[in-house]
Amino acid sequence: MPVAGVDVGSLTAEVVLLDKGEIMHYVIIPTGANSKTAAEKAMDKALEEMGLTRASLKYVVATGYGRVSIDFADKRITEITCHGQGAYYLNPGVRTVIDIGGQDSKVIRLNDKGKVLDFAMNDKCAAGTGRFLEVMAQALEVELDGLAELSDQAQNTVSISSMCTVFAESEVVSLIARGLPREDIARGLHQSIADRTAGMVHRIGLEEAVMITGGVAKNTAVVRALNEKLKTDLIVPEEPQIAGALGAALLAAEEIKS
Ligand SMILES: Nc1ncnc2c1ncn2[C@@H]1O[C@H](COP(=O)(O)OP(=O)(O)OP(=O)(O)O)[C@@H](O)[C@H]1O
Ligand SMILES: [Mg+2]
Repeated sequence: MPVAGVDVGSLTAEVVLLDKGEIMHYVIIPTGANSKTAAEKAMDKALEEMGLTRASLKYVVATGYGRVSIDFADKRITEITCHGQGAYYLNPGVRTVIDIGGQDSKVIRLNDKGKVLDFAMNDKCAAGTGRFLEVMAQALEVELDGLAELSDQAQNTVSISSMCTVFAESEVVSLIARGLPREDIARGLHQSIADRTAGMVHRIGLEEAVMITGGVAKNTAVVRALNEKLKTDLIVPEEPQIAGALGAALLAAEEIKS
C-alpha cells in the first residue's frame, strides 16, 4: 500500500507517492494564497493521475512551512529532517545538503546513515533566497528561468553591495539607469546568493558530497557560482524541488514499518 509525503512551501507544494521504497509519482503545483487548499489540490492531483484515492494511502507525512494546516496528514515532521532524508535517498554519499527555496535557505549536515548532525537556516530575510532572484529578474526585465542565461553572457561582475532585497532592488534599478550591462548585474546577483549561502555552509562545515535542492537549484548560474565559491561539484538531482516531499514520504514508510 502506498504512502505519501507532502511539502507545502511558500511558493510551491509537492506531493511524492512512494510504494515499496520506490517513487511512484510526484506533482509540483504553485502554493498560491492558501497552503491548506494547495496541499489538498496537490494530493488529489497526484492520486488522480495514478488512479488512486485518499483511502489508498497507508500513511501521510506533511512538511514545509504550511504543514500545520494539512489536516489529512497523519504526522508532521520538520523540513530539516525531511530534506535530509530525501537528499540521502537520492544519493547516499551526500553529507551536506543546501536547500534554497522561495523564502528560506538552509544547510544540513548528515552522517553516513543520513541522520541530521547539524543545520543552519536563514528564514528571516529574503536575501539569499528564490524570492530575491524573482525580485531581481523583474528589475532586470527577464523571466526567472532566463536569469542564469543572462548572467552567462557577462564580461564582468557588478558587485551588489546592499544586504537587503529591498535595497538591492533599488541598487539594481540605479545600476541599470547608469547604463551598466544587465548581464554583469545578473552575474553580481548570483554571486551575492552564492556568498550568502557559502557563509552558512562554512558556519556548519562542508563535508562532501554536497547536494543542492529546492527550486533555486534549477538556476545553473547559482550552481556554478557556488561550485566556484565552495570548490566543490554540487550534485543537482533530476528534480531538486521534490526532496522535502520525498523525505516526508520515506518517513511515512518508516512509520508503518515500526
Ligand atoms: N526553472 C527555474 N529556474 C530558476 N529558478 C527557479 C526555477 N524554478 C523555480 N525556481 C526558483 O525556485 C524558487 C522556489 O523554490 P521552492 O519551490 O523550493 O520553494 P518553496 O519550497 O515553496 O519555498 P520555501 O521552502 O522557502 O518555503 C523560486 O523563488 C525561484 O527562484
Ligand atoms: Mg521548500
